[in-house]
Amino acid sequence: MGLVIKPQNPANPHFVGVASGIDLKQPLDEQTIKAIDDGMNHYAVLVFRGQPLTQDEQIDFSVQFGPLDSGLRKATGAPTRFKHEQLIDIGNVALDGSIASKDNKKLIGVLANQLWHSDSSFQDLPVKYSMLSAVIVPEEGGQTQWADLRAAWDDLPEKTKKYIENKTGWHSAFHSRILLGDNDYTQEQLSKFPPVERPLVFTHPESGRKVLFSSVHISEVSDLTIPEGRLLVAELLEHATQPKYVYSHEWRPGDYVIWDNRSTLHRGTRYDLSVRRDLRRTTTLERHFMPMAVES
Ligand SMILES: [Fe+2]
Repeated sequence: MGLVIKPQNPANPHFVGVASGIDLKQPLDEQTIKAIDDGMNHYAVLVFRGQPLTQDEQIDFSVQFGPLDSGLRKATGAPTRFKHEQLIDIGNVALDGSIASKDNKKLIGVLANQLWHSDSSFQDLPVKYSMLSAVIVPEEGGQTQWADLRAAWDDLPEKTKKYIENKTGWHSAFHSRILLGDNDYTQEQLSKFPPVERPLVFTHPESGRKVLFSSVHISEVSDLTIPEGRLLVAELLEHATQPKYVYSHEWRPGDYVIWDNRSTLHRGTRYDLSVRRDLRRTTTLERHFMPMAVES
């Protein structure tokens, strides 16, 4: 049996597909990789149920879609409890396996993930997919929600489209954390991630659909004062995250979700931080991106 993808909600056949018929532990043939890419270009989010993966298996699966990036940890230098630095720890488990206490620095990342964002848009890298593997999930709360930035663009009033079309946003790695009161970064850490300029509106390279690329990582907007820019971002976020554009995923252990960071925003929802939540993320870059080429 091969890959089958169906819309999660038949009333909205353009956003979020439920995929089945393949075993993510097995290497994929080219045809299946292409079918997943095609599904991603159409649905932007694909949900696989019942696919528990080990750390090695998640790395092996993810890397079939492009080189992997380890995200903000490159700047913070935070240690990891995982075998691979490209596995990003999403949850509240401390290094020693216990549940992180309230004063654990790691929790600021957990909380910042509850603001609408696109992974690593603050890096000058062609970030593409992220994938989350659910290992342990709380009984209550801790859903992940995705917003469809293509539909959000399509529905914007013409006047607003014109107003924002040629503007750019400056995406800053620490902005969402600073918003939450976490100011404790050294100049050295800050300088590892200078803000990155990205258009507020762009055409998705594979689907050809236009995308309204707002995010909590944007700290400034071109041609506007800082407060004007931040208010514009808040207005666009409010528009793009209306319930009609949002899918909310109720996690079960063994779920595996892939999303396109170029056409969606996502956030976690609040949960009791004294209850264990263990999800693991991988993030891919464009297939032909060679990190070493930048260094030379
Ligand atoms: Fe994220």
